[in-house]
Formats: sequence, structure tokens, C-alpha cells
Amino acid sequence: MKIQNDLVLRAARGEAIERYPVWLMRQAGRILPEYRAVRGSLSGFKELVETPERAAEVTIQPVDILGVDAAIIFSDILVVPEAMGLEYQMIEKKGPWFEKTIRSEEGLKFAQTEFDVEDRLGYVTEAIRITNKELNGRVPLIGFAGAPWTIFCYMTEGHGSKTFSEARKILYTNPTLAHELLSRITKVTIQYLKAQIKAGAHIVQVFDSWAGILGKEQYTEFGLKYMDQIAAAINEVPVTLFAKGAYNSVSDLAALDCNTVGVDWNMQMSEVRAAIGENRTLQGNLDPCVLYSSHQEVERQTNNMLNSFISRRHIVNLGHGVYPDVDPEKVKTFIKTVKSYEIQY
Ligand code: CP3
Repeated sequence: MKIQNDLVLRAARGEAIERYPVWLMRQAGRILPEYRAVRGSLSGFKELVETPERAAEVTIQPVDILGVDAAIIFSDILVVPEAMGLEYQMIEKKGPWFEKTIRSEEGLKFAQTEFDVEDRLGYVTEAIRITNKELNGRVPLIGFAGAPWTIFCYMTEGHGSKTFSEARKILYTNPTLAHELLSRITKVTIQYLKAQIKAGAHIVQVFDSWAGILGKEQYTEFGLKYMDQIAAAINEVPVTLFAKGAYNSVSDLAALDCNTVGVDWNMQMSEVRAAIGENRTLQGNLDPCVLYSSHQEVERQTNNMLNSFISRRHIVNLGHGVYPDVDPEKVKTFIKTVKSYEIQY
């Protein structure tokens, strides 16, 4: 089906665009009262993720309500460890919780790879099919997965953490185990992304949310190596790699076989552009906290960011996911500002 507003896809491929496209990481979620209403009618987050019709509904909400240039399928990166045999719970106000963790070879029985992805994650591919049917080609649909390193963090630590010291401990005490687990996650992630693409995802993004807790050498060995395998394996649609906090590795990341590199708000757009050149699209990078300021300030900060671009190859986004207590009206101001900005290149 022809996509009517394909700005995100054209920007990702480095083709001509008449204005910068815009969407927000975590746009399908708690900032919208309409999302909370759907979520409240179900038993919880997981039921929403696993009910394709409802997941499709909340995926489309930000397209209708906020006017973003892409939809991102409503799901979570943690469906992958669950499919591999490590079940998670999403605890209200606390976040993800895994009953079991993998900290030794014995634990690898909870990191299965020999299963049919369609069989265990069919609720995601079904949500993608329903979403596209309902979107009817209005905007592209973004598929996604967690990066192997970030998924490894949750599978070993078992929950969120500021330091992920249990996860990082393994890199020093048992690097063989670390590589085995990372390889397994990578294998399943590639199959999962391909299943999403087959179901109708027009572009895919890999989220390495915890890249920034590793030093350069370790990120090269335990992070980039597997990002490389994923980027090399996905050729069907444009690929976005987002490694939050990986300042030392952004050039190496951009050198992988991807179209777009995500930039968080601590990085300077002009510096990243200088480091990586013109062959990749950059995505980002407004500080999500800007959306707590006045409408006028949101507009000013957004224009400052746009003025710092020295190229056409951009997809506008925040530097990380939108925070849940942000006023959707501020998000609309952000989007309106981007849409009315005239590209100078
Ligand atoms: O971007 C979107 O709108 C699509 C949906 C999406 C969710 N999670 C829904 C969600 C996406 C792309 C994710 C990715 C995700 N999940 C990441 C990578 C991106 C990032 O933010 O760094 C990570 C690390 C996770 C793991 C995760 N899921 C955590 C740590 C938490 C709890 C903290 C939090 O942000 O709420 C979640 C829960 C989660 N995932 C919610 C949503 C809407 C909130 C659950 C709820 O509705 O109560």
C-alpha cells in the first residue's frame, strides 16, 4: 500500500523532503488520557500488549491526536526475553520485574532460540497487521526491538537499575557466558524484526537504552558487535540505531549498515554531524524536560534545535522517551513548531 505521508521514510533514506518529519519515542503511552482509558479497561500493561486490537488502537492514538509523522507499534522490548523463556511482570509505578535471572550457564535454559517467533510473538505481528489496516497508509509504522546489550541487562539484572552492576559484573567474571547470551538474543531479535517487517513494519528501530553505562572498549565488544549483526541482517526496510549515552561510539555506530542514528539530548547535533558526515540521517534530540516549560519556551527551544541542524538529513524526535506527566498540549506545540519550520538546506 502506498504511504501518503512518507516523510519519515524519505528522510531515513536521505531523499528529498519538504519539511523535517517528527515523532516521539514513547508517544504511544501514558501522556494521553485516551491511552489511560484503554489501559484502565484492561487488567494491565501486559494484557494491552498482548491484545492486538487494543494495541493497534493505542498505536494510532498519537497519529490522530498529536499529528505525528509516524506510528510506532505499541509493545515493549521485554517481549523478546519473555519469548525466550524468561517471563516478566510490569509492576505499577516500579517497572519491569523478572522472577528468574540468568547469571550462570545453568540459566541459559531460559534463553531459548529454537522456537517459531510467529508462534510466541504472533500478538505483535497481528497488532502490526491490524494497525496498518486501520491506518490505511496515512503514515509509516515503526517496528522495534531492544538491542542485545539492553535486553541482556534485564535478563541478568532482573529489573531496572541505575548501575546494572549485576549485568556488568558478568562481562568481567564470565565473558563467555555474556557472549553466548548476547548471541542468542541477537539471533531471536533478527528473526523478530524480520517477522515485524513481513507483517508490515515500514522501518525498524533498535533501542540500546543502556549503551551509556559501558565504556568504549566494552561497548565495542558487548554492544556494537551485536548491533552490527542486526544492522547487517536487516535489508528490507530502513534501520535506525539508537544507543543512548554512547557518546564515544557514535561514529562507530554510524559506520554500521544503518540509515539513521538516534541522538540523545546530551549530544550536540552539530558535533555528531561533524563526526559522522552526510551519509546517515540523525534522529533526535530535544531534551524531554523542555516539554515541562511554557509553550513559548518549547517553541524557542525547538527552533534552537532545528537551527542547529546543518543538513537536510534529520528526523525530529526527543533525545529519549517522552515523560509520562508531560502535558500533551506541549507535545502539540513541539510538533507544530517542527511542522512549520522551513528547512534551509
Ligand atoms: O514508543 C512507543 O510509544 C511504543 C511503545 C514502547 C513501550 N516501551 C511501551 C511502554 C516502546 C518503544 C518501549 C521500549 C522500551 N521498553 C525501552 C526502550 C526505550 C527507552 O525508553 O529507553 C525500554 C528500556 C523498555 C523497558 C520498560 N518498559 C521499562 C523500564 C518500563 C517501566 C518504566 C516506564 O517507562 O514506564 C516499561 C513500561 C512501559 N513500556 C510503559 C509503556 C507505555 C508503561 C507501562 C504502563 O502503561 O503503565
